[in-house]
Amino acid sequence: MQKLLQCLFFLSLSCFCSFPSSAFSRNPNRQFSQANNYEGSSDLVDLRYHMGPVLASPINLYIIWYGHWNPTHQSTIRDFIYSLSSPAPYPSVADWWRTVRFYTDQTGSNITGNIVLSGEFYDSVYSHGIYLSRLAIQSTINSAVTASKTRALPLNPHNGLYLVLTSSDVRVQDFCRAVCGFHYFSFPTIVGVTVPYAWVGYSGSQCPGMCAYPFAWPDYSKMPPPGAGGVGGSNVMRPPNGDPGVDGMISVIAHELAEVSSNPLVNAWYAGEDPTAPTEIADLCMGVYGTGGGGGYVGKVYRGTWGVVYNVNGVKGRKFMVQWVWNPVTRRCFGPNALD
Ligand SMILES: *[C@@H]1O[C@H](CO)[C@@H](O)[C@H](O)[C@H]1NC(C)=O
Repeated sequence: MQKLLQCLFFLSLSCFCSFPSSAFSRNPNRQFSQANNYEGSSDLVDLRYHMGPVLASPINLYIIWYGHWNPTHQSTIRDFIYSLSSPAPYPSVADWWRTVRFYTDQTGSNITGNIVLSGEFYDSVYSHGIYLSRLAIQSTINSAVTASKTRALPLNPHNGLYLVLTSSDVRVQDFCRAVCGFHYFSFPTIVGVTVPYAWVGYSGSQCPGMCAYPFAWPDYSKMPPPGAGGVGGSNVMRPPNGDPGVDGMISVIAHELAEVSSNPLVNAWYAGEDPTAPTEIADLCMGVYGTGGGGGYVGKVYRGTWGVVYNVNGVKGRKFMVQWVWNPVTRRCFGPNALD
């Protein structure tokens, strides 16, 4: 049964991938209708290593803030990035990243636990307009590394990772229709070198019901929201940092960072036969945030003050809600808030 569902999953992915990319669908409908729940161990997941590199060296992460950004949202996102390799009370964001570190390359090197926010670039002039194609995301990286000397980000092909974040008013090809974020690698003809990058859009105004799950809920789902009857009479879960769009984005950023690290050149860790529509380590666990999660239920997570919902701790007392990722050793989805 799950095999069949996986086939449907691949079909649904391939129909919107017009060129090789590791875009993912976060269509909440799939979370309800297809058993995308591998919280329990499954022998049917054929996640395999395809001999390419993983991000094993300490990562220098560069953020490109494209468009007009709310400074409060920016600090939430920065604190999440800092939390990836900083201590915080268990279960922490860094504890969550430990599952990602189980992936190795053919030299036996694990994915790094060291992710440093090494530069930020503010593209507040919308250098490539308010509509970006998938390829134009690479052009925004090129603009950031070729800007005037005082502002430019370094072009770092050794251990650089570029994260392009688009503001609420920026439309991106396939955003809100098929994807909430994607990762890929740059072409030397556009950026000068091959560097891994990821893009995530702010969905708070364009499609919270699709990309800010579980803090927003699609009306068309005809399913009850996950927090119904639970959180303070509200019918959706309350975001831990006060904004459904940015708290939803955090989990998408986590998803993309896990996948770009384990499959940066789209030739390392993925399931399925088709590299143009790979199923990667976070795709396998979409919608799962705690024990028992899947099929529209987020799983066992924590309730904080004011009814906020979260599953990991970060720096400065922050709380975040991040989806689980596939553990290659136990062959199941896992997060540090697991009850078993
Ligand atoms: C590296 O990966 C191997 C294989 O998954 C695992 O046994 C080991 O614990 C990992 N090391 C770290 C530091 O995560």
